[in-house]
Amino acid sequence: MQVLVLNGVNLDVLGRRDPKVYGGLTLNELESRIYSWAHALDVAARCRQSNNEGEFIGWIHDAYDNVDAVIVNPGAWSHYSYAIRDALELLEVPIVEVHLSDIEHREAWRRNSVIADVVSHRVLGKGPEGYREALEFLVGKDGG
Ligand code: DQA
Repeated sequence: MQVLVLNGVNLDVLGRRDPKVYGGLTLNELESRIYSWAHALDVAARCRQSNNEGEFIGWIHDAYDNVDAVIVNPGAWSHYSYAIRDALELLEVPIVEVHLSDIEHREAWRRNSVIADVVSHRVLGKGPEGYREALEFLVGKDGG
């Protein structure tokens, strides 16, 4: 199973962001964990991060015929990017939305995710472990 893991805007500076909200891991450390969880589940994961919305959308387009599932944390784009939503909506494979923090219990403007209704599953507020839960969902260990 090929899974594309997309992290969006500002997730490259994770280690510098409030550790109480996002945990202390850097993006590199997070991606290393994702790769080892994926390996243990026999999943071929590819992690990518961008601060450029066009590049991010290009990776979603590339996924159309090439992967079996997508895990996506668009960062702040989650709250307003209809362009990313439209691109994800065209995917026919399962999509899992992950947020390190619990966006439904933070500032009002973070509570809305414009991608929420085009994804198969959502994992909110579980920190890095949320990506593991997303992988487990995709391999059917979580009833998926
Ligand atoms: C985030 C939550 C977003 O509101 C925020 O803008 C981020 C990270 C999360 O993983 O908790 O950049 O997506």
